[in-house]
Amino acid sequence: MTGVAVQLHGLRRTFGTVHALDNLDLAIEPGEFIALLGPSGCGKTTALRVLAGLEDADSGRVLVGGKDVTALPANRRDMGMVFQAYSLFPHLTALANVSFGLSLRGRGKSLARAQEMLELVGIAAFADRYPHQLSGGQQQRVALARALAIEPSVLLLDEPLSALDAKVRVQLRDEIRRIQTEVGTTTLFVTHDQEEALAVADRVGVMRAGKLEQLAAPADIYLTPATPFVAEFVGLSNRLPGTVVGNEVEVLGTRLPLLSPSSTASVTALVRPESVQVTPETDGEGRVLTTSFLGPISKVTITVGDVLVVAQVATDRLPSLTPGTPVRVSLQPVPVALA
Ligand SMILES: Nc1ncnc2c1ncn2[C@@H]1O[C@H](COP(=O)(O)OP(=O)(O)O)[C@@H](O)[C@H]1O
Ligand SMILES: [Mg+2]
Repeated sequence: MTGVAVQLHGLRRTFGTVHALDNLDLAIEPGEFIALLGPSGCGKTTALRVLAGLEDADSGRVLVGGKDVTALPANRRDMGMVFQAYSLFPHLTALANVSFGLSLRGRGKSLARAQEMLELVGIAAFADRYPHQLSGGQQQRVALARALAIEPSVLLLDEPLSALDAKVRVQLRDEIRRIQTEVGTTTLFVTHDQEEALAVADRVGVMRAGKLEQLAAPADIYLTPATPFVAEFVGLSNRLPGTVVGNEVEVLGTRLPLLSPSSTASVTALVRPESVQVTPETDGEGRVLTTSFLGPISKVTITVGDVLVVAQVATDRLPSLTPGTPVRVSLQPVPVALA
């Protein structure tokens, strides 16, 4: 299974007055793992369905391996799909679910191949179980095995982890990445969960209202968001009042480089909580408002005058930052976007 290139060119799809896809362009490299990230309703599923041939675009083209497949029906597009959940045939065992799509290859061979796929996804021991005898995470592993069994040219995953609990979600997410790296199938993974997208993908495409706002490596999406929407959607940001001075913006007394120039003087700067430093200081201007324990890193909210600031701190610092503590707030001089 080697990956093929996928290109979406100028896809448009409207439902009544809704522009589900609004001139969407996306180019995926052979073997690449792309996460399509965006809020609910931004057109992720529609994009995936148009690529799969389950939905027709009003205009635009879909190319797979350089070939125009726009007019081909879904069953001739050679794609493996995994949906949110509950997509297995309830009356078939895990093994039979996986071998189902392989019937053309002859039964003996398809069973051997199905067994191999269950091994790949780490649940060979459950081959004879029915879906109701499997956990949600195990069922999604079977669905993944079934999608990969046909050696698809493209693997499409639509929020495959969103019905699972947090721990299983993280485990299976890492497994999906491991398996995809092993088989090398070009993959489009749709999610509204930014942490998930940043964790698994080679590149993340951030979508908004049927368009791609930015397509870049996870670190670039996070550190140099192309638009305020990306900055706000990916990772929590403080919205702090600032004053533009040349190529910088002054926020809470610190000058920060701007990601893109601004012609407005009074602005709202988007500052990451991890860029906010908090130090207890008797005559500090800030006051700790609340603290919340979140594991090794915790969250502290501070008021500075009438500005509310959220900071991330190492949890062992919480005892010195109880509500009411006067603090000094300073910002790390990392480039920021403006809202
Ligand atoms: N079959 C449909 N009929 C009417 N509206 C639809 C249909 N499918 C999607 N939409 C609308 O298109 C927009 C994009 O939907 P969708 O692609 O499912 O978004 P996402 O997967 O990002 O949540 C939404 O406003 C949705 O309500
Ligand atoms: Mg969707």
